[in-house]
Amino acid sequence: MIQVEWKSVTRLCTTKPVLTINGKYPGPTIDVNEGDNVQVKVTNKATPNTTIHWHGVRQLRTGWADGPAYITQCPIRAGSTYTYNFTVINQRGTLWWHAHFSWQRASVHGAFIIRPAPRMPLPFPTPVQRDIPIIFGEWWNGDIDAIEKEMMLYGGGPNSSDAYTINGLPGPLYPCSAKDTFIQTVERGKTYMLRIINAALNDELFFAVANHNLTVVEIDAVYTKPFTTSAIMITPGQTTTVLLTADQVPDSSGMFVMAARPYLTSVFPFDNSTTAGFLKYKDESNIDPKKSTSVENIPSYNFTLPSNLPEMTDTSFATQFSDKLRSLGSSVYPCNVPKKIDKRAVMTISLNLQDCPINETCKGYLNKKFYASINNQSFVRPSMSILESHYRKLKSGITFDFPEKPPYVFNYTGVNPVTENMNTEFGTKVLQVPFGTRLEIVLQDTNFLNPENHPIHVHGHNFFVVGRGFGNFDETKDPQGYNLVDPPERNTVAVPMGGWAAIRVVADNPGVWFIHCHLEEHTTWGLAMGLVVKSGKEPFQCLVPPPSDLPRC
Ligand code: C2O
Ligand code: CU
Repeated sequence: MIQVEWKSVTRLCTTKPVLTINGKYPGPTIDVNEGDNVQVKVTNKATPNTTIHWHGVRQLRTGWADGPAYITQCPIRAGSTYTYNFTVINQRGTLWWHAHFSWQRASVHGAFIIRPAPRMPLPFPTPVQRDIPIIFGEWWNGDIDAIEKEMMLYGGGPNSSDAYTINGLPGPLYPCSAKDTFIQTVERGKTYMLRIINAALNDELFFAVANHNLTVVEIDAVYTKPFTTSAIMITPGQTTTVLLTADQVPDSSGMFVMAARPYLTSVFPFDNSTTAGFLKYKDESNIDPKKSTSVENIPSYNFTLPSNLPEMTDTSFATQFSDKLRSLGSSVYPCNVPKKIDKRAVMTISLNLQDCPINETCKGYLNKKFYASINNQSFVRPSMSILESHYRKLKSGITFDFPEKPPYVFNYTGVNPVTENMNTEFGTKVLQVPFGTRLEIVLQDTNFLNPENHPIHVHGHNFFVVGRGFGNFDETKDPQGYNLVDPPERNTVAVPMGGWAAIRVVADNPGVWFIHCHLEEHTTWGLAMGLVVKSGKEPFQCLVPPPSDLPRC
């Protein structure tokens, strides 16, 4: 049972009401076993509407429990309750949950851990001492709702957050924050599992721990071929589970710095600040208790950032890291990438500019309004849940003519696509496919005013990232280079800035599924679409009926 409620929280010496779950920021970890039927009764004790999304949970046939507002359900109104009811099938590892209404996920989020069934062996040998959720977030001193509204009203970019956080704590590099620092105690010789989640709203992040390597073993609740790395890159929406062995000899402070900073390719004046925390070795003979980490000692402790933390613009690290991710592809954990496809859709991902309406003030580039789109379609949320109107066959204004190819063909990653790609159309178009369709989606970035990868997230399905590259996707050549042996399987992919990513998905989950950029500012500008998977012929291929407490619009 969880309650969405306001609570006063102080960070950076600013106190403000924060939307929380059971008064906690970040919210509680939900720990389940593979195969469990999970029922979470959510009561909205706060004023606004809310919904909760179980990010990455497949929700096989239970789309009603997926959570995105106006896609699979109407919001839970103040004073109301809705029970999310779903079964965790054939997934194990780290996922997360978050509010899926407006920008509420800034504070309403937490880890969702799936313990493997006893018959499923761990595909890595080391005994793990403990697991430790590491959730990156962003803190704004201002009211998050007001920031979103202002952005919509004036069509400008949102204010950058005031701090990045580790488990809700900004750390000592921000003003007034040394006392709000994440410190994790470890014992020498032991191995720890860090369950890393990027819950930040708008930035991809690099993360490293000074002097320690990280061994990646799982992403988005799918095991990977383990590999060791000095740092990771993680986009909003992604989860990465790594093993860390406390195998170093600390100095007299007993501690090592961990830090996360954004990955941005741009020259735009974005926030480049860094959140830091500490690994604290316990019981080492050389530790000087006066220097040893405690929140009181941090202000005077003179530390440098981990030298293994990539620089903010380090695209080559980001690319190499993504290329190392591979499905396990073992007999117990096979990689079921579709070798053949039924359909290829090519989708351009753009930011767009629209002229400022007369008598309005606009704060986007060139005094216009920013929007964002897929194939020049900016998604408009309908006033009723698409899943419900689809299931009950209601008239809703939703159309099934989402373009499967870009409406304008141009040099997407050329130097000046500004003039060629400013336009977008507004509507609620969805792509509909029959049950079982083997779908390839090529996500093509367009080089327009965007300094970041787009983390594209697909609800209700995992997909295989069969190819990525820079420049324009070439339909005759690029598919020959696809990895159809052990591509990474996940639910959120970083489409490279100035490049493309090809994903393959088997549409085996009947219902309506949101596909969107997990940078909240881009989703707000319309970088989203709906995927409708029709029911199949067999009963197990059909969506279950809606629960009786499903909220009404
Ligand atoms: Cu993590 Cu549509 O969400
Ligand atoms: Cu984006």
